[in-house]
Amino acid sequence: MVASPEQEHPRKAFGWAARDASGVLSPFKFSRRGTGEKDVTFKVLYCGICHSDLHMVKNEWGISTYPLVPGHEIVGEVTEVGSQVQNSKLETKSTYGAKYSDGTITYGGYSDVMVADEHFVIRIPDNLPLDGAAPLLCAGITTYSPLRYFGLDKPGMHVGVVGLGGLGHVAVKFAKALGLEVTAISTSPNKKDEAIKHLGADSFLVSRDLDQMQAAMGTLDGIIDTVSAVHPLPPLISLLKVNGKLVMVGAPEKPLELPVFSFDHGKILAGSNIGGIKETQEMIDFAAKHNITADIEVIPIDYLNTAMERLAKGDVRYRFVIDIGNTLTSAT
Ligand SMILES: NC(=O)c1ccc[n+]([C@@H]2O[C@H](COP(=O)([O-])OP(=O)(O)OC[C@H]3O[C@@H](n4cnc5c(N)ncnc54)[C@H](OP(=O)(O)O)[C@@H]3O)[C@@H](O)[C@H]2O)c1
Ligand SMILES: [Zn+2]
Repeated sequence: MVASPEQEHPRKAFGWAARDASGVLSPFKFSRRGTGEKDVTFKVLYCGICHSDLHMVKNEWGISTYPLVPGHEIVGEVTEVGSQVQNSKLETKSTYGAKYSDGTITYGGYSDVMVADEHFVIRIPDNLPLDGAAPLLCAGITTYSPLRYFGLDKPGMHVGVVGLGGLGHVAVKFAKALGLEVTAISTSPNKKDEAIKHLGADSFLVSRDLDQMQAAMGTLDGIIDTVSAVHPLPPLISLLKVNGKLVMVGAPEKPLELPVFSFDHGKILAGSNIGGIKETQEMIDFAAKHNITADIEVIPIDYLNTAMERLAKGDVRYRFVIDIGNTLTSAT
């Protein structure tokens, strides 16, 4: 007989789950494993809402299994460490909707407690606020990693960031901290002032304004494309210099068209997926040194479905973070 989510492991857990592709989330009782020798158990304090959570709850990538407890931008306070754990500090990143070797399903951070192998635990430096640091565990590393990996990190280089959402706004901050010249490329003209005055971008292009795009042709060494929906690539490719690199990190639910003839002059198209644990610790330490956190709207758990609807419409500056520690109780 298959055990219910509440019974399959020894530790009681509580969170919010989507039950089907409507994406509506509601309270959900389940369980987590006990603290293994190499595990760190922690009380979740904050969890960011990444657009990937939205794609997943609505099964937009066709890979979701239900019930689905999303959340992978998770920070918390360690409550128990296994006997073999050496790195017992704080905070983690994790995942959901996968299977453990015993066949049980992993549940994410929209929940009260997590148990993670110490390998996946990141220490957050003391000067970073935990709520503003949570989104760095996905949005931060997903944009920091390609800047480093593709060599788009040399002071003076000119980089474009497409899509000023959760990923894009921290991409601008990291790129500026690396000493780059940054052009924000957006469909939202009303983000211009904030992008320049607050996020620190040097210039701003409205991607649907053909004159502006044409005037900027051939100016960029690289582009980090964070757009969550289907959008045309040729106008972006034409912004690249000779040998420029377009790095896709956004994950629209449908394939994008790629006219290969637009790749003239040695231009390169690449993809990138979050980043490794060692690099994530490096990113967090870099963020701490440069005082980089996400711009967030902290919400109580019972605002979750409204937040998801607003995220779908791009109505957030720039990341929702759920105050799990103070608002998630099994009475909700
Ligand atoms: N590769 C990875 O490892 C990884 C990791 C995390 C997330 N992701 C993916 O990255 C994407 C962005 O995530 P996010 O959390 O940053 O999402 P987000 O906060 O919703 O930001 C996405 C931004 O894309 C722009 N955009 C939305 N619809 C558009 C359209 N139709 N045409 C052009 N631009 C549009 C908007 O910026 P403007 O208003 O400025 O145009 C929006 O703010 C998602 O697909 C997510 O699943 C990938
Ligand atoms: Zn994410």
